Amino acid sequence: MTGKRTFAEPYKIKMVEPLKITTREYREEKIKEAGFNTFLLKSEDVYLDLLTDSGTSAMSDNQWAGIMLGDEAYSGGRNFYNLEKAIQEIYGFKYVVPAHQGRGAEHILSLSLIKEGQFVPGNMYFTTTKEHIERAGGNFVDVIIDEAHIPEARHPFKGNVDIEKLQAFIDKAGAENIAYISYASAVNMAGGQPFSMENAREVRKLTSGYGIKIIYDATRAVENCYFIKKRERGYSDKSIREILLEMMSYADGCTVSAKKDCLVNIGGFIATNDELLYQRAIELVVVFEGLHTYGGLAGRDLEAIARGIYEMVDDNYVESRIRQVYYLGERLLKEGVPIVEPIGGHAVFIDALRFLPQMPREQFPAQSIAAALYVDSGVRSMERGAVSAGRDKKTGENIFPKLELVRLTIPRRVYTNLHMDVTAESVIELYKNREKIKGLKMVYEPRRLRFFLARFEPV
Ligand code: F0G
Repeated sequence: MTGKRTFAEPYKIKMVEPLKITTREYREEKIKEAGFNTFLLKSEDVYLDLLTDSGTSAMSDNQWAGIMLGDEAYSGGRNFYNLEKAIQEIYGFKYVVPAHQGRGAEHILSLSLIKEGQFVPGNMYFTTTKEHIERAGGNFVDVIIDEAHIPEARHPFKGNVDIEKLQAFIDKAGAENIAYISYASAVNMAGGQPFSMENAREVRKLTSGYGIKIIYDATRAVENCYFIKKRERGYSDKSIREILLEMMSYADGCTVSAKKDCLVNIGGFIATNDELLYQRAIELVVVFEGLHTYGGLAGRDLEAIARGIYEMVDDNYVESRIRQVYYLGERLLKEGVPIVEPIGGHAVFIDALRFLPQMPREQFPAQSIAAALYVDSGVRSMERGAVSAGRDKKTGENIFPKLELVRLTIPRRVYTNLHMDVTAESVIELYKNREKIKGLKMVYEPRRLRFFLARFEPV
């Protein structure tokens, strides 16, 4: 992946934010106070924050300049029209409905398209996406290829929809009982794994025959495009911008959490060419988010997204972004640390089941590693396993998904490769002393999206 010559960032640092360096004793105290849940740590007690790539990007000087040009009118502010133009040009969709963040867009979309009892097939669930599908009366059905559930399967496009599974499901359920296909780019829960353009075309071909809509979760579409450029025949000479436009042409619309690809700290949107969907969505956005020309955001936020959208398709930026993720992942692989392969676009995912094979699933191995990593070095990561998966709606039992992962998520344009070295050394140290990591039991469990607020104690 990485070439012989160093490929450095196509930007330089203009402003810095100091980080607090703490002692091990201090961090032992803090993780206890946080109920061994890294979501509940105070960020000031974190050294390197790899909890998420969401809303944690560094904005450019051009974006900050745009912040000063916020038009804070209640209706029809100029920044909305700038955003609309950016989305039309870069994503290729005509209609734009802003929302305060990705889940706001998912809420509106789910209510717009799902009738009680309908199904939404998709390439692996995402927490908030599935939640909103279910709240709107729908049922999520996983139709991702089997390889996506196998951390060591080196398929180049582990985010692909399994066309046979999808066909079989349509045959079984009936096309009229399918609300739409939820088709995610750089599939987060699979480890940031892309789908191929060929797969996108096949899904389009299959669903067109039935009149079933495709809605992308295009939250990390740019990172998906990078892998198409690198791995799929016919794309190496195309720009990320061209690839993105082609990708979007196979969908009826998308939801986006602008907090990722779009290089901003807050925001989201629905974009579509479907006039009816647009009409329904703007009727709902005024109920839940705000007027359809601001969607719960300030004018300045809309401007930052508009400018971020042009920056996110810069080929050199995307190259340096993904190379940094690979830099961390390859260091871990070299020392034999089990991670999801191929390395994804936004994060390195530690495979907790191979890291701690002796620990029972009931003791939440991924959650336990995340807590131990924080204590070791002040690096904050995130559990993506049984705690995130929650309970079965019918039986009330814990779901134990095949993937039990710890996500080391890399914010965009924020950390240096020396920070990646610090992280790698800490993970390697933990792996060498893995028998010392203690399991956890859940002592407080919220009813929904429990991973955000659950509390634990060592067993
Ligand atoms: N879709 C995907 C694929 C996501 O990763 C996220 C958020 C959302 C939708 C929801 O967007 O946070 O703006 O409401 N992912 C964050 C993460 C939380 O850390 O992976 P949101």
